[in-house]
Amino acid sequence: MSNATPIEGIKACVFDAYGTLFDVHSAVGKHRSRLGEKADAVSGQWRTKQLEYTWLRSLMGSYKDFWEVTADALDYALESHGVDDQTLRQDLLQAYLQLDAYPEVHGTLAIMRDAGIPCCILTNGSPDMIAAAVASAKLDEYLEPSLSVASVGVFKPDASVYQLAVDALGVEKNQICFQSSNAWDAAGAAHFGFRVAWINRFGQKPERLPGIPDAEFKDLSALPKFIGAQ
Ligand code: LAC
Repeated sequence: MSNATPIEGIKACVFDAYGTLFDVHSAVGKHRSRLGEKADAVSGQWRTKQLEYTWLRSLMGSYKDFWEVTADALDYALESHGVDDQTLRQDLLQAYLQLDAYPEVHGTLAIMRDAGIPCCILTNGSPDMIAAAVASAKLDEYLEPSLSVASVGVFKPDASVYQLAVDALGVEKNQICFQSSNAWDAAGAAHFGFRVAWINRFGQKPERLPGIPDAEFKDLSALPKFIGAQ
């Protein structure tokens, strides 16, 4: 699906963090030589396990801070690939607090700010880790305070998470445009009632889930026109 027909009535934009604004693979990227040919596989499994643990913990009613979930997933990925290096483990976790923002993020958020559209992050990330990533990437000036699942104790795509943005921004669900590169998160947000732009950075196929995004873009640069901010 690719649909750039602009939508009307958007009063705020809400962004997923990891994978959408921040390149999660930039953590391993900074230490690539220490992992050698295992680097991409470790990074991929780290991310996959991290997400699986959020879904499973939500189903099990066993919430745990996303920082700890991220460390658990890294431990799994490193052990799976036969890597036993505590210094590297610490360096990879530290790098997760200083992820690269994707190249078009600053420019897109600046356009939204100049158009007077409030923007904020809604993330699985814990408040400390998302604050560190936002500060490191110098995105503070464009964003309202970030919203974290920590305040509801369950992970995306639980509806109570998306409701956090409605409550914080004081607008209706259908006045919020939500952006995520995670197709399952885009589906969850659309199912909840947001307008949704799926930022399909990785050329994935559409999910077979309830909740159909309004548009699919390869990065965030088409967003301002899509919501009438440019
Ligand atoms: C987040 C994960 C899902 O930022 O990327 O919420």
